[in-house]
Amino acid sequence: MHVTMVKKQLENGEACRKCVQAEELLRGRGLWGKIDRVVWAVEGQSDSEGMELGQRFGIAAAPFFVVRDERGDEQAVVSTLSLLRELAPPLQPSASASALSPDEIDSLGPKLSASEPAEIVRFALSRWGRQCAIAWSGAEDIVLIDMAAQTGLPFSVFCLDTGRLHPETYRLIDKVRRHYGIEIEVLSPEARALQAFVRQKGLFSFYEDGHKECCAVRKVEPLKRALFGYDAWMTGQRQDQSPATRGDVPVLQLDPSFEGKNGVLAKLNPLSRYSSAQVWQYIRAHDVPYNELHERGFVSIGCEPCTRAVLPGQHEREGRWWWEDATRKECGLHSAQPPKPPGLAR
Ligand code: ADX
Ligand code: SF4
Repeated sequence: MHVTMVKKQLENGEACRKCVQAEELLRGRGLWGKIDRVVWAVEGQSDSEGMELGQRFGIAAAPFFVVRDERGDEQAVVSTLSLLRELAPPLQPSASASALSPDEIDSLGPKLSASEPAEIVRFALSRWGRQCAIAWSGAEDIVLIDMAAQTGLPFSVFCLDTGRLHPETYRLIDKVRRHYGIEIEVLSPEARALQAFVRQKGLFSFYEDGHKECCAVRKVEPLKRALFGYDAWMTGQRQDQSPATRGDVPVLQLDPSFEGKNGVLAKLNPLSRYSSAQVWQYIRAHDVPYNELHERGFVSIGCEPCTRAVLPGQHEREGRWWWEDATRKECGLHSAQPPKPPGLAR
């Protein structure tokens, strides 16, 4: 395989920021030696070699890569992360990669608790690969996806589509899919249970008798179904999101509520000790895509009818289920005993 990297040279003679980041990423992964040639797309010079390659492959922005295989066939790769996957094929999870044992929790828990989030993510993906799924809904989870993508290891991502998410969130799902070149499994509630619930209670019963019943049908049952296919899952929970309910969220635990493919299910919360400020520092430093609602005062984002913006100084959870008291602000995704979805055989 022969790889040519096309970098953009700005009018002031410097390389563009994204090209520098791409080079750093490749160097950081020890793969810079696999780039055989670097050519420049010089701003304003359409006959520079990089500009000509861009024209030939219909690509308007550098960095990009031209990969030639043994037969001499060439293809252009626009995503640096996709190139990383081609240059360093992901490791297969080891033979021991299956259910987590309580002994492992004892031996690994303290070590992982002292590790940086990116190391925790790498551990999980080396251990479980695609059998570990990132549950994606918020800014924290895209940070996890970014860290996972940087490892070059295989992983899964799913999102619970409650049917009540903001249009901005739906748009973001597609943006993240394209940005990282990954599959995101979008899970819907079970149709019959949802129809029975809506027929009986209407579309806004949560304002009258609480959110648990609606969350049970729209979130908890699909989550239970999804997790049954995995050995481990990762969430973006942080301890300071809710001192009342998440103050002791561990980095690694046996899921107390759900079962995985082999019975027990490992649950990882790599950002458990991160603050919101650290999450946003990471997002800015790594150009991570985020929900445009954050620019309008939303901090913790769930379903549209149950989420609102908060004022400066207000706690982020105050924007969720604001008509309920703080101790009830969990929907069953992370509480020890998820409520039974009404009308569903279990
Ligand atoms: S919630 O239980 O109150 O809704 P929150 O929004 O704080 O949870 O998110 C905590 C973590 O739960 C997220 O980081 C994510 O891992 C997971 N999660 C929450 N909502 C969803 C969803 N709709 N789809 C997938 N994962 C979700
Ligand atoms: Fe229903 Fe609101 Fe729960 Fe979404 S957050 S599932 S709309 S109660």
